[in-house]
Amino acid sequence: MVFPKNFLWGGATSAAQIEGAYNKDGKGLSTADLMTLAEEGSPREITDTVEEERFYPTHQAINHYDHFEEDIALFAEMGFKVYRLSFAWTRIFPNGYDAEPNEKGLAFYDKIIDLCLSYGIEPLVTLQHFDTPIGLKKFNFWIGRETSDYFVKYAQTMLQHFKGRVRYWLTFNEINNMSTMPWNAGGLSIDASEEDKMIAAYHQFIASAKVVKLAHEIDGNNLIGMMYNGHFSYPNSSHPMDIQGNEDFQKLMMFYADVQVRGEYPKYKLKELERLKIKLPIVEGDKSILKEGTVDFISFSYYLTHVCGRLTKGILKGLNGLETGYQNPYLERSEWGWPINPQGLRFALNALYYRYEIPLMIVENGLGARDEITRDGRIHDDYRIDYVQRHLLEIEKAIDLDGIPVMGYTSWGPIDLISASTGEMNKRYGFIYVDVDDRGNGSYKRFKKDSFYWYKEVIASNGKTLHSNSKDKILFESLK
Ligand code: BG6
Repeated sequence: MVFPKNFLWGGATSAAQIEGAYNKDGKGLSTADLMTLAEEGSPREITDTVEEERFYPTHQAINHYDHFEEDIALFAEMGFKVYRLSFAWTRIFPNGYDAEPNEKGLAFYDKIIDLCLSYGIEPLVTLQHFDTPIGLKKFNFWIGRETSDYFVKYAQTMLQHFKGRVRYWLTFNEINNMSTMPWNAGGLSIDASEEDKMIAAYHQFIASAKVVKLAHEIDGNNLIGMMYNGHFSYPNSSHPMDIQGNEDFQKLMMFYADVQVRGEYPKYKLKELERLKIKLPIVEGDKSILKEGTVDFISFSYYLTHVCGRLTKGILKGLNGLETGYQNPYLERSEWGWPINPQGLRFALNALYYRYEIPLMIVENGLGARDEITRDGRIHDDYRIDYVQRHLLEIEKAIDLDGIPVMGYTSWGPIDLISASTGEMNKRYGFIYVDVDDRGNGSYKRFKKDSFYWYKEVIASNGKTLHSNSKDKILFESLK
């Protein structure tokens, strides 16, 4: 048996992408709630306020707010050991800076966490997943130090409230998105200056480090990780300029992990900031805050690998299907153009582990694809099974052949949810289908896809069935 006995198998979601009920029971607006659906190939727009005639996917999402019991029961049926979810800061502190927490928000997450625990599912909570409160605009979002302080207050509230019930925590989802998707990461406009991005990132590092320290003080059993967007890349060619271009891209991304794991800015970053004449807003005591707040583990998302080179600098944009100036001719792509590279996951695990030597967890991975539902409510998603299976086999190799301690795997969107990059519903990742279209029309009924039965077998066998062709069995199960 290669996967450790206590391997954390499960799935991952984020509040804004599943909950809906965006203004119910006292919830305030977040940055995610002002993003429209991407129309005809153009990017999602960000509006100043909610405009009546526009469509905002987070406002209803898959209405997990009213369906959470059914959804978590389905996760339990698949045998989840862990469920990664995020808390919406705006359900707890609607404006971000309120004096007292919103009891209804706490009550909602009480129900979710208690339900998970009743099924023996370990919750893994992300404190901010692309949803900074709009109320914090008055501090210029993460550019203001106040936002950092209010985040710590919110985190402390949750750590205390869920003490003994939630043990695994992540501070910021994909903190390195500050360089590529600053609105998602922290409410900065998409064309924010490098200086603003670096100041906002600095405030997130400080907030995260304080929260790590607090988490350990509040409960010695807490484990708190960073969450890295897995932007792993290969050089475009052996030309020294391509090698350097790739190295520069890696430094741009990895510096975020360097700070959170090692507790200080790497020299290459300090030199760069000096060259760019960017002064970090350091106040007394910050140095030791960063040093004392290093994370216990690294969690990361992995969907693809990039190709980088001499052209990459200056053209970077996007979420995972990042534009780097190059494409990999050896890889197939998803319908959304994301290269599919299972072997790259083993490469990623090695790159991270042998740089930092702390435990790793894959907290997002999956295939966004269009699904077809048959008249009798079945979804034959063998393409998704194939994708996840090939990635899991590479994790197995990383554990078995490379000796890497992998804590667990949570597939992205075990239930269909709205896409972060486009806002679409039809870019589906789930093992569970939700009958709702891009514009929020549908019955919101849940259906089990073939992959549901397949993943259930994988978990029940602790990965053994990855080696057998269990397609017939899946078909049989889905016909029952
Ligand atoms: C990750 C984000 O980068 O990618 C998720 O953490 C997101 O929020 C996921 O949903 C997949 O991207 P998309 O654009 O297909 O939703």
